Amino acid sequence: MSKAVVIYLSTSGNTKVMADAIAEGLMSRNVSVTTMNFHEARIEEIKAADAIAIGSSTFHYKMLPPMEKFIESLERANVTGKLGVAFGSYGWSGEAPINIAEKMRKLGMEVIDPVLRIQYQPTEKDLEECKRLGKDLASKIKKTAETHKEGGPKAKGTPLEDVKMGEGGH
Ligand SMILES: Cc1cc2nc3c(=O)[nH]c(=O)nc-3n(C[C@H](O)[C@H](O)[C@H](O)COP(=O)(O)O)c2cc1C
Repeated sequence: MSKAVVIYLSTSGNTKVMADAIAEGLMSRNVSVTTMNFHEARIEEIKAADAIAIGSSTFHYKMLPPMEKFIESLERANVTGKLGVAFGSYGWSGEAPINIAEKMRKLGMEVIDPVLRIQYQPTEKDLEECKRLGKDLASKIKKTAETHKEGGPKAKGTPLEDVKMGEGGH
């Protein structure tokens, strides 16, 4: 079974309800999910996951420093090649989810669109969008797993080593 972790920082619960709805979307597509506050995140769980969703609300035009440190520490979990989702509630500027997506990409993760930002408390309609994102992530996890099973692009057509580029200069 595919695995995902949904990790969040939320001071008054707005980003947490987004996290729960993303997890619900993933679970509805048979992905096993652990949802946790970033303080509770364990490196083993992150290493074992096919995908990581990270959310934070915005404070003073950025994410809070402990969340920033946490994401940077993911380098130790070797997250290169894993799928990622960035999300968060905000009030007026909403930089945190964008910064999360940037940091995930720097770590070599493939971040799927959209970077989901919801103003203040999510409405029912907003939560449907969160669930949709969870379902889209689940589909992407399955597609990626199938590509790996087939042996990736090399499995079909000409092996890459046999393609000679520009021999003879023409
Ligand atoms: C002290 C303080 C600073 C904030 N700074 C920003 C900010 O710079 N930009 C922004 O978009 N929202 C800002 N907000 C709004 C929060 O991001 C917003 O209330 C969000 O819904 C909180 O979500 P949470 O419950 O998941 O923490 C700030 C809120 C507080 C209390």
